[in-house]
Parts: sequence; C-alpha cells; structure tokens
Amino acid sequence: MTKYKIFFNNQMVTFDNALEIRSPETNEVVGILPAFKKNQIDSIFENAEKAFETWSTIPHQKRIDYMMAFGKIMLDNKEELAKALTSEVAKNYSDSIKEIERSYDYIVETIDEYKKNFVKPKVQYDNPQTKKGKVSYQKKVALGVVLAISPFNYPVNLSLSKIIPALVLGNTVVFKPATQGSISGALLSKYFYEANLPANVLNIVIGRGSEIGDEIIENKRIKMISFTGGVDIGNRIAEKTSSIPLVLEMGGNDPAIILKDANLNAAVNNVVKGGLSYSGQRCTAIKIVFVHKSIANEFTNKLVEEVKKLSVGSTINNSDITPLISSSSVQWATKLITDAIDKGANLEIGGNTQGNILYPTVLSGIKNDMMIFDGEQFAPIIPIVEFDNVQTVIDDLHNSLYGLQACIFTQNHKEFVRIANKLNYGSINWNFASSRGPDKFPFLGVKNSGFGTQGIYWALESMSRMKTYVVEK
Ligand code: NAP
Ligand code: G3P
Repeated sequence: MTKYKIFFNNQMVTFDNALEIRSPETNEVVGILPAFKKNQIDSIFENAEKAFETWSTIPHQKRIDYMMAFGKIMLDNKEELAKALTSEVAKNYSDSIKEIERSYDYIVETIDEYKKNFVKPKVQYDNPQTKKGKVSYQKKVALGVVLAISPFNYPVNLSLSKIIPALVLGNTVVFKPATQGSISGALLSKYFYEANLPANVLNIVIGRGSEIGDEIIENKRIKMISFTGGVDIGNRIAEKTSSIPLVLEMGGNDPAIILKDANLNAAVNNVVKGGLSYSGQRCTAIKIVFVHKSIANEFTNKLVEEVKKLSVGSTINNSDITPLISSSSVQWATKLITDAIDKGANLEIGGNTQGNILYPTVLSGIKNDMMIFDGEQFAPIIPIVEFDNVQTVIDDLHNSLYGLQACIFTQNHKEFVRIANKLNYGSINWNFASSRGPDKFPFLGVKNSGFGTQGIYWALESMSRMKTYVVEK
C-alpha cells in the first residue's frame, strides 16, 4: 500500500503518527497517512491566520491563477485520484472519474461567479436620480480562516465545493476530510503544493473526527465553518461553536411521491437511479417512495424487474451496486430491513448481504411506525408506502425530521405546484429524482437536513462579508 505525504508548512511531509485506511471492499490497507495529534491543531490554525494577512490582499487574479493551476494538475492526475477515491470509498471507477471532472467544472464555474459578482464593488446612491448626497461603495471581502469538513461519499467534490470558494475569496482554509476520504484529501493537498500555493493557505488536517474533531471545531481562530455530513456531527458543531457563520449540509430522507397519472416507466427509472446509485449513499438519494394505491402493484413489479438488471460487485468492474462504506453501515441497513419486516413489510427483492455488499432491496407495505419510514438508510433500500389520499403523505412528511429534497411524479403541473407548496424541503423536483447537481443551483436543507445554502453563488456568499465605503458627493 502507499504511504502518502501531505502539504504542511510549505513542504510535503509525513509523520510517525499514522492513520491506516482500509478498503471497504477488501478490508486491505490501501493507504497510510500522516495523522495529527490534538496538540498540533492550534498551530495549524495559527499558521492559517498568519497566512490570511497576505493571501487576502494579493490581487484576486493571482488567487484565480492558483485555483486554475490546481484544477489543471488535478485533471492531469485524474486516474491517480480516481483510483484513490475508488479504493477508499468503494465508489465505482467511472463514477469516481465523473466526480473529479464535475469538481473541475465546479472550479471554473466558481471563478466565473466570483469575477461576476464578488470582485467589482457595487455602488448605491442615497439619491439615484441626482447621484448627490451619500454614496455607498460595497465590496465583498474574505472572513479569515474557514474550516471545511467533508463527508466520505464525495471526497473530492464535497471538499472542493468548500475549499475553492473559500480560497478564491481570500480566506485561508483548514480542511478536515473524512477518514475514508483522506487519501483523496492528501492527493488534493499535493496538487495544491504542485500548484505552488503559498504556505499555510490550505491546511489539511488528517485524523479521526472522533479523536481530534472537537479540538478542531472549538478553535477560536475559526471565522466560518462549512460542514457536510451527518446530523449528529452537524448538531454537535452547532452546539459547540458560537457567533461564527455556519453552513451545515446534513442528512436527508428524500421522498418520491408518485401520483396515479405519473409516467410509470419514467418514475421507475428515476427511483432506481435516484435511490440506488452509489448504493444509496447520497444525501439526495430517494429514501422513501409514496405511490398511489391504484398503481402500487404495477409500480412495484416494474421496479423489481429493473432492480434485477443491476450488477452487484466490485468497483473496478463498475458494478451498479458496490460495497457500503463500512460493516456498521451494513448492520444499520440490515436492522432497518428486519424492523420493517417484523412490523409487516413485504420483502420484494434483496435483503441479503455479502461482506459489505447489501443487495439492492425493495420493501413494500411500509407503514409510518417502521424505523425506515424516517430513518436515513444510506444504503440500497427502496421502501414503498401505498397511499390513497396524497394529503396523508403531506401530513406524514410534515412530521419528518428531514427536509432536504423531494420529488413528485405527475403529469399535472398544477397538482405538482399545489403539493410542492405544502412540502417543507430545500428543493422539490418535478418528474425527476432529487439531486445536488447542477452545482450552480442552490442546494440546501431545512430541519435536520441543514442550515445555510450551498451551490456556486451561495458558497461564495457564505464565505464572504460586505465591507462598505461611504462618501458624500
Ligand atoms: P459524518 O460521520 O457526520 O462525518 C462527516 C465529517 O465530520 C467527517 O469528515 C468526519 O470525520 C467529521 N467528524 C466526525 N466527528 C467529528 C467531530 N466531533 N468534530 C468535527 N468533525 C467530525 O458523515 P459521513 O458518514 O462522512 O457522511 C454521511 C452523512 O453525511 C449522511 O448522513 C449523509 O446524509 C450526510 N451527507 C449530507 C450531504 C448534504 O449535502 N446534505 C452530502 C453528503 C453526505 P471522520 O470521517 O474522521 O469521522
Ligand atoms: O450526498 C452528496 C450530495 O452532494 C449528492 O450529490 O449530485 O449525487 O445528488 P448528487
């Protein structure tokens, strides 16, 4: 396996304190990384704070040039990065390549948005007609040290979607990748080093969140935290930090509502893709399906037929269903399935496991007393709830802990709007599965799904502040 170095204090280093990363697929050690201890954390933030003084004042074009240089190096090394990503989060190779290419596009779009809306000051006149009297020149300026914390499931895209906007604005960044995502993080830090990024502008901190997480989030030098991950950690961050801006993108239990006039084949295809890609390990995955009782049998049978076509196996063969991130994920998913069946659900297909693989599973006859009704499975399980009156679905969803995205399948636009207006979610999709992309769109959750908004423009907005110069003419 490879012993990785990281970009630290202007050089590529390794430490005696090491973190072993094992493949979720083979359980073999696929990388050894330098890990930080608690007593090193504050000095990292101190270095980042010092670097901010210069980084925030260099010409914005220089910062843009560094970002583009990094992006090109990342793209030139996409096979290396994709292999790393695949080995540590068991994402099939072609999806890993797609994540890297999507992340390059994210850099380009962020720079475009930055130049369009964050470089040139805006002018506001007290008297727009005469332009006499007070005039306010409004700039967007950086905040300082931004803490970026990313989850395991998109170790490149959900890291760069924080790091790039933060850096291009002039912030410096302390970046905590997920443990299963740290090899990708180390390679990203290497590419920044090769782009000649000045010292301590980007500071990767590798180590288990359970060991060094609190030390990181409680550091008083932090001026903003952008977190993506589960509800428990997100809420912990909110509880332990005060008076600094937060963006928290957390869990989801995204429902699909299929009305009786829906295009059934389209709905089935969207539920398969939306619910099962990357083995359901997406916050925006469709995690529960409500289908009108008049079409429930037909929908379920079509869905099962499509699920049977999915390949299950290894990442390198680009299987549709690959191993889950950990054995504990398999145990959690199995618990949800068992609980549902014990309470009367029907197992239509799947439910069986092989190592960290859970075969794609469809459960029908789901009721709201079952754990899976509002428990985020983060696994390839599609629970189906039959309904008669859609108002009962709206009422049930009103009680959901989550509010990330929802999707409604109907051919009646007015009915889509009527139902969408009653649902409390960040985004409501008409006739296609929930998803974070396109990245230029706003992406947000409410309730336990999040706080604040991401997406190209909104990420920049969340990592900057207004500074105004007022003069009198
Ligand atoms: P997680 O367990 O919450 O971990 C997220 C990040 O927080 C990781 O980098 C983790 O590091 C770190 N962390 C753990 N304990 C910490 C602490 N005490 N202080 C600071 N950081 C700490 O989530 P995950 O398992 O990586 O990802 C799955 C979850 O994320 C799911 O709930 C999913 O819905 C959610 N998610 C949401 C979105 C969204 O955009 N809404 C996107 C993707 C995923 P370690 O890995 O070292 O523990
Ligand atoms: O869960 C990660 C989130 O970013 C989902 O992305 O584009 O697969 O919906 P996407």
